[in-house]
Amino acid sequence: MLAVSHLVVDHGKMRALWDVSLSVEAGEKVGLLGANGAGKSTTVGAIMGLFPPQSGEIRFEGQSIAGRAPAENVARGIALVPEGRRLFPEMTVGENLEMGAYLRPLRGGLDTRLGFVFDLFPILKEKAAQPAGELSGGQQQMVAIGRALMSEPRLLLLDEPFLGVAPLVIEDVMNALRRVAATGVTILLIEQNIHRALDFVDRAYVIENGRTALEGTRESLIGDADFGSKFLGLE
Ligand SMILES: Nc1ncnc2c1ncn2[C@@H]1O[C@H](COP(=O)(O)OP(=O)(O)O)[C@@H](O)[C@H]1O
Ligand SMILES: [Mg+2]
Repeated sequence: MLAVSHLVVDHGKMRALWDVSLSVEAGEKVGLLGANGAGKSTTVGAIMGLFPPQSGEIRFEGQSIAGRAPAENVARGIALVPEGRRLFPEMTVGENLEMGAYLRPLRGGLDTRLGFVFDLFPILKEKAAQPAGELSGGQQQMVAIGRALMSEPRLLLLDEPFLGVAPLVIEDVMNALRRVAATGVTILLIEQNIHRALDFVDRAYVIENGRTALEGTRESLIGDADFGSKFLGLE
């Protein structure tokens, strides 16, 4: 479904990605791991169309999408839950959710899709008329995920969705994401906490200094000595 090969991305004069390759099959849950500054957000940003690559290839459902505008990517079935959530804090929860739908004609209409999100996160229905900025960190993250889901994505990119979320709520959010995956949505999850990531994904890639350093199934990564010494002690 998604194939990134030999991706090179610069931020101004600084090279952030030197050689990132990864692929995700339809229906998979894949992790993107790595230390702070390794290039995880730049990678999903480039997939989403926020950063045009210097070189390399990004293919989604067989088509080259490198350099395509973010709105076009949303319209074609990719959604990003950005790092730090990026909600509209003064707008209500309901308005934030509706923002996620405006780029893509929905199969079942707005209310059906809102119903799906409220079923996933019932607290958001109770708080629909409240400004999003008044919600707890975990609830705001639910709004960010819900907003991304409003566009009915086939590929959902999640950039550290558990950051600033209380441990008990993390379980709720993770279970909701499992339900989303069970509906057939493919998931690429960025996570710094390796244990938590390996709880959720089938497979993962590790990025180091802008390069894909390691790839494997959950079991092989846990067993990989290099992975263990480098990353499992991290958190
Ligand atoms: N918008 C930006 N402008 C300039 N440099 C950036 C920008 N975003 C990220 N970087 C730099 O690119 C590198 C990779 O960052 P990032 O992709 O955010 O890493 P990660 O998400 O793994 O923490 C870092 O050195 C970071 O400082
Ligand atoms: Mg990041």
